[in-house]
Amino acid sequence: MAVNRCVCLDLPFVELLELARREGLGFDELSRRTECCTGCGLCEPYVRVALRTGKTDLPVLSKAQIEAALSRPRDDERKS
Ligand code: FES
Repeated sequence: MAVNRCVCLDLPFVELLELARREGLGFDELSRRTECCTGCGLCEPYVRVALRTGKTDLPVLSKAQIEAALSRPRDDERKS
């Protein structure tokens, strides 16, 4: 089962990521503007991972997997 949207607000991660990139939004501003993650809150770590990794179709992740994804440098921070 893929995790790819904020179910409470019916907001696909792909649309949230596009908005964040277009407007240069971090998580807090994205959540304030769209209200994503303001329902049950279960999607918050996934939205953070999507913003960090650019992946919007995620498997169910453990807490350790989420922490690992968030601790890695973003693609645009990596040196070639
Ligand atoms: S799934 Fe996003 S707030 Fe509940």
